[in-house]
Amino acid sequence: MTDAPRRADRPATGTGRQYHLDLAEGELGPTVLLPGDPFRVPALAAAWDTAREVAHHREYRAMRGTYRGVDISACSTGIGGPSTEIAINELAAIGCSSFLRLGTTGGLQPHIRSGDVVISTGAVRWDGATPSYAPPEFPAVASHELTIALMEACERLGLTYHLGLSASTGSFYAAQSRPAFGGYIGLDADRVERLTAMGVCNFEMEAATVFTLTSLFRLRGGAACVVIADRFRNEFRPEGAEEKLARLGAEATAVLAGMDQRRSATGHRWYVPSLHGSEA
Ligand code: URA
Repeated sequence: MTDAPRRADRPATGTGRQYHLDLAEGELGPTVLLPGDPFRVPALAAAWDTAREVAHHREYRAMRGTYRGVDISACSTGIGGPSTEIAINELAAIGCSSFLRLGTTGGLQPHIRSGDVVISTGAVRWDGATPSYAPPEFPAVASHELTIALMEACERLGLTYHLGLSASTGSFYAAQSRPAFGGYIGLDADRVERLTAMGVCNFEMEAATVFTLTSLFRLRGGAACVVIADRFRNEFRPEGAEEKLARLGAEATAVLAGMDQRRSATGHRWYVPSLHGSEA
């Protein structure tokens, strides 16, 4: 502990740890699973072979372990763009480089049912945090490598999945066209119909922040969510999502490690499917 004044523009704890996450350089591995809920971190880690808690400060709970010999970590982000912005910045600062958001979602298309997985290729930036980082025209796009890893993991696990655009919102009720307290109707009451017509797959609250920041920081971001709210049929079925997300996160991390290993062994800058042929 030092009494020297610390910088307000780079806040840290007295021992030099990240101020909000209470983590230090190297304490998590390169690939981090990002649930919103701190209680989902041990639920995700239940699918790993080894796991230990590294830190828990505010809504940010972090664990690290191994799955099939691969270094795997998870850190909760809290709900929504602002707390996710803090998580990505501080995780990047300690050396994390691949960010896999795993959460629950509201489906917007007739062919997307409760229990299905939606893998986001990009996201509408209604997240509320990224307007301070880039103009509205800047797209929020997933890393192709994390997207392929998630698809392959779904294939291996036999999960029904969909691939497409998501809409990330900075509010769960009004911005997702739900009546708020007392039946109050906000300014975005027609979003379900508009997004369904545009082919957008789902509502969630963090993917746009993850994609935008990882693009700007030259890192990798991906996102997959299990549908618990079917907005097309107006059905809510949250059961079973956590266990599915745990298996998906562990498997996708192992697939990604295999892809990265093959890519670096062959000197390729980007992963292409021919690096694996039919075997993976
Ligand atoms: N998460 C969301 O953001 N929206 C839903 O409808 C369900 C989960």
